[in-house]
Amino acid sequence: MSSNSFEAVPLQNLDEWEDDLLRRYPDPEKIAAAKDTEAYRNYEEPARDTVKEFYRLNHKYQTHEFVMGKREDYLKFDKKEMTVWDAFDFLNQLVDDSDPDTDLDQLQHLLQTSEAIRRDGHPDWMVLTGLMHDMGKVLCLFGEAQWAVVGDTFPVGCAYSDKIVYSEFFKDNPDFTNEQFNTRLGVYKEGCGLRNVNMSWGHDEYVYQMLKDSLPEPAQYMLRYHSFYSWHREGAYDYLLDDHDREMLKWVKLFNPYDLYSKSPEPPDWKKLRPYYEDLVGRYLPKTLKF
Ligand SMILES: [Fe+2]
Ligand SMILES: [Fe+2]
Repeated sequence: MSSNSFEAVPLQNLDEWEDDLLRRYPDPEKIAAAKDTEAYRNYEEPARDTVKEFYRLNHKYQTHEFVMGKREDYLKFDKKEMTVWDAFDFLNQLVDDSDPDTDLDQLQHLLQTSEAIRRDGHPDWMVLTGLMHDMGKVLCLFGEAQWAVVGDTFPVGCAYSDKIVYSEFFKDNPDFTNEQFNTRLGVYKEGCGLRNVNMSWGHDEYVYQMLKDSLPEPAQYMLRYHSFYSWHREGAYDYLLDDHDREMLKWVKLFNPYDLYSKSPEPPDWKKLRPYYEDLVGRYLPKTLKF
């Protein structure tokens, strides 16, 4: 499959997936404030066909074998080496050109997330986690299909939960009928801990692996599982967790609203903010990041 076929790009841009997350998990504060207004009704709109098509592909192609292959390839980190600042410029090539009025570039979303975390007085490593959490979307720029970069993540190698959005599409995934992978536990042991579970491939696992040695463990969980909605929002897969995962879940839940609900059309003033972030990045991250 070539990377520019329709199968690779059902979404006009990656934000369409995130806009759909807002429809599924609307901001409770906005709902309270906007009852009976158009904003409220928009939340209840059925997901657009592009999002549905995106999930059809994601669920069909994210097999155990696919994930193992991508881990093997990308976790060597031998593709590119950049400073954090060059990496933001690189990531910003993903800027959407279909709807320039409403969509902000990737850096704006990262800054709005990190600034919302900072405003609430959370530790500086969490601010940095907000700044970096979607850096893994550079996978798109390495030619990966959208369904291998964004979308809800889920374990592969065991039965797919019906708590996963559009779970009916898993019937087209070869693992669905593979006896090695289609039982409740599949290749895993009861309570083995998420660290022993392979997740569908995407920007979460990739950025976690990129930054895990530089950030404290709660930050690692935030990076690694921020799109694992069937776990952190729906409570699925409890039988794979160990007590440590259950303890760490609170951090993943703390992070999620900053990712989902910090979006605003107002771009943060990067010039003003830059000295703060240069200091923060300098204290936690190496001079260059390997991709
Ligand atoms: Fe993300
Ligand atoms: Fe995000």
